Amino acid sequence: MNRRKLLKSIGISIGGTIISTKVLARLADDSFEYAIPPNPMHKPMGKPVTAITLGAGNRGMVYGGYAAENQTELKIVGVAEPIKFRNDRYAKIHKIPDANRFVTWEHVFQKPKFADAIIISTPDRLHYGPCMKALEMGYDVLLEKPISPSEKECRDILALSKKTGRIVAVCHVLRYAPYFVKMKELLAKGAVGEIISVQHLEPIEHTHMAHSYVRGNWHSSKETTPIILAKSCHDLDIIKWVINKPSKQIIAMGDLKWFRIENAPTGSTARCTDGCKVERECPYSAIKQYYEKRDRINVFDLSDDKAKQGAEIMDRLKTTNYGRCVYRMDNDQPDHYITSIRFGDNVTANFSMEAFTSYAGRRTRIFGSMGDMVGDMTELVINDFKTGKETKLVPKAEDVEGYKNSGHGGGDWLLARDFVQAVSQQNASLLTSTIDASIESHVMCFMAEESRKKNSFMNIK
Ligand SMILES: NC(=O)c1ccc[n+]([C@@H]2O[C@H](COP(=O)([O-])OP(=O)(O)OC[C@H]3O[C@@H](n4cnc5c(N)ncnc54)[C@H](O)[C@@H]3O)[C@@H](O)[C@H]2O)c1
Repeated sequence: MNRRKLLKSIGISIGGTIISTKVLARLADDSFEYAIPPNPMHKPMGKPVTAITLGAGNRGMVYGGYAAENQTELKIVGVAEPIKFRNDRYAKIHKIPDANRFVTWEHVFQKPKFADAIIISTPDRLHYGPCMKALEMGYDVLLEKPISPSEKECRDILALSKKTGRIVAVCHVLRYAPYFVKMKELLAKGAVGEIISVQHLEPIEHTHMAHSYVRGNWHSSKETTPIILAKSCHDLDIIKWVINKPSKQIIAMGDLKWFRIENAPTGSTARCTDGCKVERECPYSAIKQYYEKRDRINVFDLSDDKAKQGAEIMDRLKTTNYGRCVYRMDNDQPDHYITSIRFGDNVTANFSMEAFTSYAGRRTRIFGSMGDMVGDMTELVINDFKTGKETKLVPKAEDVEGYKNSGHGGGDWLLARDFVQAVSQQNASLLTSTIDASIESHVMCFMAEESRKKNSFMNIK
């Protein structure tokens, strides 16, 4: 008999709670593969939701990818993107007529409303303007995080969404990842008793740090947003979401310690391609990362012809920030950042963002009165103090990796799916990351950064 079918209806008991998800397979004695059941609020759609994408870069392509694979749910009918290569690529994938292709977001709003929703995947400092305009014109909005680099602008967007009654879904994609959905459900059901404290680690991975926060788009906190908002707003958001109590106080420390000129090795040069004497032994070599490993090369807008790509990459390494020495950049983002938060009922949390790791993902430990939970996004291990029993839960691989472009533990496309349903049904409760639900963790980030800079403890209002 098929083992998966056999185990489908078995409930697992942890800390006096029965797990409601379908168990797909028993992997070992106390280890189970599970799936999140289909959302009963999802309904068949008479016609696809239509959307206009502002910013057809990396994130615009992720949500566009969902539309391309799910054409009965989401249709992209317009795009604003100043880089011709990206505008052309997007228009081709989604068959967007020339009349609906624009260079910059402002142009979209010069036309009367011509879609249900706007997808805002422009750089951090270009979220507020298009979001306010979209709401004024009656669009629903899928808004990339951070909502805005300023607390006042975040609150303006919240106020306007309430005034207009439009949906604003913030792309806190981890809230949709089956792993975190399960963590939240178990904690809400009391699987570890009362939550006493949380420890959460965000290992960035050293080469990702070099790519995004030393050489890349977010190397300058002043031109974009501080790293606690740009990178770790997901993490403070998940901590707040699972604890489910108001945040009260926060303190933060951290600095840019390594990627500085004084740490540049003797023999290093302005660019890795300038004949750097230590390039072969340097873990941050751009030649190794981009030319040899072809890691994160989507930023280079390469031609489809693989034979030409090597020369194109070398050209970018000689002409863009991606080829510059990591010790000689004009970067200012901290490479290690810790923050402690006190929530209501004296629940506490510790968060660490660490650049210097060989691995990525997230690691979380939850300490409860009746049990504890340890997870790394590939499995969640729950120990029940009363029974001494340990249970390991593993999300179904397809939920996490099955979608081609869906990163963040599967959360990217699962958010897109819930957003489409919310717009189609005009029901924001299908989303867990509405602007109302998301704003507090942004405020925590603003307060953390203020604490780090002022060297003082902050009360969160
Ligand atoms: N949710 C997440 O996990 C996640 C992950 C990465 C990035 N982000 C956020 O998503 C946003 C986009 O990031 P990205 O990685 O896609 O960056 P990106 O640089 O790949 O894409 C941004 C695009 O916006 C375009 N653009 C610039 N000015 C514009 C204008 N005036 N009008 C229209 N388009 C304009 C750029 O040319 C670029 O193609 C950022 O705010 C970023 O912080 C979120």
